[in-house]
Amino acid sequence: MAKIAPSLLSADFADLKNEIRKVENGGADYLHLDVMDGIFVPNITFGAPVIKKIRKVTSLPFDVHLMIDRPERYIKDFADAGADIITVHQEATIHLHRTIHEIKSYGKMAGVSLNPATPLETIEYILDDIDLILIMTVNPGFGGQSFINQMDRKIKKMRKIIDERNLNIILEVDGGVKLSNAKDIISWGADLLVVGSDIFNAEDVEFRTKEFKRL
Ligand code: DX5
Ligand code: ZN
Repeated sequence: MAKIAPSLLSADFADLKNEIRKVENGGADYLHLDVMDGIFVPNITFGAPVIKKIRKVTSLPFDVHLMIDRPERYIKDFADAGADIITVHQEATIHLHRTIHEIKSYGKMAGVSLNPATPLETIEYILDDIDLILIMTVNPGFGGQSFINQMDRKIKKMRKIIDERNLNIILEVDGGVKLSNAKDIISWGADLLVVGSDIFNAEDVEFRTKEFKRL
């Protein structure tokens, strides 16, 4: 069964505690936290101090998605703030291998994310070192965008690599995931679905989370 990570990006930022409670009651497996710096992506969101505060109001594991340039500058801050998984973009750090090992040195799970145009081959030589791959199925920066259809090939190909090489890697998909396409994405081999707008813009956030869990 695929797991669900609601993305706080589409939540009501004035009411985060209650928003988190709703997805927690709905059976969310992780909380997905989108950190944006206005450089790697056009948008700016929040950083480690906010994550540290919300760490106190939930026991959900934190899946921190760093959409920031040269993330190696801030790995320790996010580890200290209470991240469980720290995911960096392949495109954002020159020394990806070193950055991954820094994440692991703090006892955290290390993830690598790929923009839609970045080939899977770019992470060929670090597959044995990572705990999670995050395949972006929209161009990162904003919630509420449409799933880029040709990403199905990328998800299937990654699934095949993981299975053939018997790798211990979580395959996470982020961007444009909705109730209407989630079943297909799971059938292509995703283990973990990030859902932002389709959960937090729903009339009943808790019920919508449950609907995803039932898939
Ligand atoms: C986009 C973020 C996503 C975003 C997904 O840059 O990485 O996590 O919250 O939002 P939806 O589900 O609305 O596409
Ligand atoms: Zn994300």
